[in-house]
Amino acid sequence: MNILVIGNGGREHALAWKLAQSPRAARVWVAPGNGAAAAVPLASRQCPISNLQLSTTDPQPLVAFARQEEIGLTVVGPEAALAAGIVDAFQAAELPCFGPTRAAAQLETSKAFAKAFMARHGIPTGSYATFTEHAAARAHLRSVDYPVVIKASGLAAGKGVIVPESRGEAEYALSLLMVERAFGAAGDEVVIEERLYGQEASVLAFSDGRNVVPMPPAQDHKPVFDGDRGPNTGGMGAYAPAPLVTPALMDTILREILQPAVDGMRAAGTPYVGVLYAGLMIPALAPTGNSTVCKRGAGASVMDTRPKVLEFNCRFGDPETQVILPLLESDLVEVLEACLNGDLDRTAVRWQAGAAATVVAASEGYPGSYPKEREITGVSQASGLPGVTVFHAGTRRSGAGRLLTSGGRVLAVTGVGKDLPLAISRAYEGIAHIHFQGMHYRRDIGAKALPRDLHFSGKRSLWPVS
Ligand code: AMP
Ligand code: GLY
Repeated sequence: MNILVIGNGGREHALAWKLAQSPRAARVWVAPGNGAAAAVPLASRQCPISNLQLSTTDPQPLVAFARQEEIGLTVVGPEAALAAGIVDAFQAAELPCFGPTRAAAQLETSKAFAKAFMARHGIPTGSYATFTEHAAARAHLRSVDYPVVIKASGLAAGKGVIVPESRGEAEYALSLLMVERAFGAAGDEVVIEERLYGQEASVLAFSDGRNVVPMPPAQDHKPVFDGDRGPNTGGMGAYAPAPLVTPALMDTILREILQPAVDGMRAAGTPYVGVLYAGLMIPALAPTGNSTVCKRGAGASVMDTRPKVLEFNCRFGDPETQVILPLLESDLVEVLEACLNGDLDRTAVRWQAGAAATVVAASEGYPGSYPKEREITGVSQASGLPGVTVFHAGTRRSGAGRLLTSGGRVLAVTGVGKDLPLAISRAYEGIAHIHFQGMHYRRDIGAKALPRDLHFSGKRSLWPVS
């Protein structure tokens, strides 16, 4: 089977890498792809991976290519491609394409839609109000007595959420979105949401429109610096499974969040086929006497301890995919086809025991502006280590075949091992071989999940600390 992956990040390299290991895969194209394509094959049973210079948001050339090359399965990576109606165009051409339609992808592309949907279906999430008028939004802000988060409703490349520390900052955020239109049309509608506290987790699930099969829970690391400091990024690293999401909690998440979401979308006539990614806040629990309190800002109050949805994404996560897919034992082609055929309940989705961690190597200055075209060395040495896989994100090959940086997040180095400490130490061993000028990465990926005496503990440190 010929396979097409749409996108150019680390997530898409991980998808191509896993799909290429299917015994049914003959050739995998990635449009437009990155510097990974010409790399030495990363896995022994792997078919060739090639780049295809086509836009991710222009459906017709992709459809024409898929027809011409008899592509048997197309997989959409980024949300912008879903919003551009790639899946709808492939469906109209009767070509198999994995991902939600533009209507179903509104769960991600419109935060106002997602919040109203959750309210209708009783899916736990923070309380909220939506506004299209700046004056009304500001009046609402002045009327609430709890901390809030300000969100552009539309797609803003992951930058449209502002978590203000004061009312003044919240007012500034509103004016940035609605008056200055910093994110253009994405901020024409704004969601003002109750701020939630706790630990975040990413629970992704396959859906065939009716059945839901969760993947191992993961945790992303969004702030750029160690200890969750500094500005938010697309994600500086991840690990899975996240022990924070216990099996009992996973049952609750399936029953109260994922299944009602898929049922609600089907009832609305927009069945959800694809990966549904719930970004969750798990309350930080602290028992006091007979009651359970939730740490909340400066004080603490008795409150709802259920996991709540911060956002839905309609696709695989980046960098979550780089830790989830290395744990998938089953053939990804079979799983995605089962979603498209509506028989996920008759397909075994098996995961290997153990854990995976990924550390992102970022360009100097990222998440602000950054230079490109810096030469990268050490990728093949890192990839040669046991349990280490290097996924390319912002990389490209020069005419002479040299590997150069071309984005903010450059590489994701994944370690897999029998447990999380081994996975983490393998990822850090791998990244230690890699170099490009100005490269930076977090040294504490996965630390939150380890016993406290293993955190930054000098001689006992599990990874190199500079
Ligand atoms: P989103 O794109 O909606 O997931 O938001 C991006 C990030 O903003 C999340 O990963 C959280 O760190 C933060 N965030 C979003 N909504 C809330 C909320 N209601 N309370 C606290 N933090 C939030
Ligand atoms: N890791 C965050 C995202 O994929 O949206």
